Amino acid sequence: MDKDNYKGIILAGGAGTRLYPLTKIVSKQLLPIYDKPMIYYPLELLIKAGIQDILIITTEEDLDKFKNLLGDGKNFGINLDYFTQKKPEGIAQAFIIAEKWINSSSVVLLLGDNLFFGNKLEMTIKSAIEKNSGATIFCKEVENPERFGVVEINDELKVLSIEEKPIKPISNYVVTGLYIYDNLVCEYAKSLNKSDRGEFEITDLNNIYLNKKRLESIILDNSFSWLDTGTFDSLLEASIFVKENKEFF
Ligand code: G1P
Repeated sequence: MDKDNYKGIILAGGAGTRLYPLTKIVSKQLLPIYDKPMIYYPLELLIKAGIQDILIITTEEDLDKFKNLLGDGKNFGINLDYFTQKKPEGIAQAFIIAEKWINSSSVVLLLGDNLFFGNKLEMTIKSAIEKNSGATIFCKEVENPERFGVVEINDELKVLSIEEKPIKPISNYVVTGLYIYDNLVCEYAKSLNKSDRGEFEITDLNNIYLNKKRLESIILDNSFSWLDTGTFDSLLEASIFVKENKEFF
């Protein structure tokens, strides 16, 4: 698919309660990661992947802070738009909120608190965008799979199932917060029901693509780093990682 037909969405909502009091008056995605606010990292990644039109979805409370920081995108050589998510009702809600903005494009969705690093990252995303027909997810092996969407994969590294935060994970491979979708994503998102935790789950959306045999997965090996920012320790580690690998940024 033509990469010029792709738009990008960064989801920067959520209450970030696990990081209180840090996130009591500031959005998690505005906290510093070494020398930049967290949102810069996903933003710069989408720009490096060649995406020119980017939408930031945040809360009503934080909207002005993001606008003051990033403006209309001209400083980054792109177009930036902003929408708000009134209640944190799940990642897949992004496609219901942004349906008109997406229009006839395909979309790369990136969670604003997911930090990806690696020499081959830009090339990997660009090539996945070019090959995408349906949806593409990016998976990584982790120590604590129960906190994520967990994938069952076969010997050929094909995804057989995805389960959101299972008590007994079937593998250590999980779905990261980087997703590529074709233009049917809005239609599929509108068909979702809320989960038991009251959210439109991205895992349910990915399972629609999986059931239609329209889901590709890319396993990110050890040459890629995927940093968590959900705890005080992981937030600090992310800053140290960026400081020590400054040549990438
Ligand atoms: C979300 C998704 C989960 C995914 C994770 C990646 O979880 O629901 O499938 O593995 O993002 O960061 P959350 O951390 O928002 O609960």
